Amino acid sequence: MSDLALDGIRKTYRTKGRPEVQAVRGFDLDVHSGELVGLLGPSGCGKSTTLRMIAGLEDVTSGDIRVGGTSMVGLPPQRRNIGVAFENYALYPPLTVAENIAFGLRARGKANRKERVADVARRIGLGDILDARPVGLSSGQKQRVALARAIVRQPDVLLLDEPLSHLDAAQRDTTRRELRHLQQELGYTTILVTHDQEEALSLADRVVVMNDGVVQQVGTPDEIYDDPANLFVARFVGEPPMNTVDGTLAGGVVRLSEEITVPVSTSGTGSVVLGVRPEDVVLTDAAKADATGTVLVYEDLLEYGLASIELPGVTERIVAQTPPGLDLAPGQQVSLALQRDRTYLFDTDSGERLR
Ligand SMILES: Nc1ncnc2c1ncn2[C@@H]1O[C@H](COP(=O)(O)OP(=O)(O)O)[C@@H](O)[C@H]1O
Ligand SMILES: [Mg+2]
Repeated sequence: MSDLALDGIRKTYRTKGRPEVQAVRGFDLDVHSGELVGLLGPSGCGKSTTLRMIAGLEDVTSGDIRVGGTSMVGLPPQRRNIGVAFENYALYPPLTVAENIAFGLRARGKANRKERVADVARRIGLGDILDARPVGLSSGQKQRVALARAIVRQPDVLLLDEPLSHLDAAQRDTTRRELRHLQQELGYTTILVTHDQEEALSLADRVVVMNDGVVQQVGTPDEIYDDPANLFVARFVGEPPMNTVDGTLAGGVVRLSEEITVPVSTSGTGSVVLGVRPEDVVLTDAAKADATGTVLVYEDLLEYGLASIELPGVTERIVAQTPPGLDLAPGQQVSLALQRDRTYLFDTDSGERLR
């Protein structure tokens, strides 16, 4: 297997009569041999364009792509040994499932075709339909055929673009586990694109968070979650999302309102955004609290509860994760404390993390 290097790759789409689109704006990344990198970002941020450039389905506007040290730029897709499974699977209607999966192999004349196809198919839940034709399959089954086809051809690099998007929740969980198992066993260097943060955080060795064509942060799932580089990453990753509250930093405290200040270890002055995840907002005694507010809504989600709280003089509502079954009534007064080492500050203008 090979490592994959992306060196400042850019893509500008120029269509006559339309404003140009800078879809990818200088993407740097080294994917280690055998590593699974999750590429996460909102719709339209350039994820698919990035994969399509690596696969050779789209030219790079500038920058270099190397697999095992060899530049891929200018090589047609069939000369790059890259397996792709994209959201819009293209299956051959006259061929059976087994023949569709084996398609890339046949062209390459690989030995033990049948066994390999049957093994991968069985492991991702297609074992019973090897002789079926695509026309009768569900979209989830078709998508798994495309996934099996990409896996079975033993690529240097495996690129998966929302490969589980058409599966229902139960199928997705099992297929996700089996995909990870196969990827590790076969040692494929993999990039998996998803807009589903749970998928990225649970599957990937490292996660790349992207927005508007620009890489925001590269890190392990824990680093992305616990140590976000900027406000975009902080808000994008985490469910329910991180609370973010406007404030003013001065003299080692952040002032959130006339009466609420939170001590911080960051020096400096200016407009800031204070961030704290719902699980790090703790309901406590008034004596130990940072603030006291009013419960607006309480949701009991069985494993935990979520209280939406209004603080005096603060525009943003604060969501606190509580133990289950607290049954807080709307209008009830509660006091809350923010876990100090789990409270983040961001520059209001740039969104950059302040430390
Ligand atoms: N062939 C194309 N021509 C012009 N613009 C495109 C083309 N493909 C994608 N785009 C634009 O490039 C941006 C990134 O798209 P895409 O890579 O598909 O994002 P994602 O996969 O993250 O949803 C979007 O603004 C999209 O509209
Ligand atoms: Mg896409």
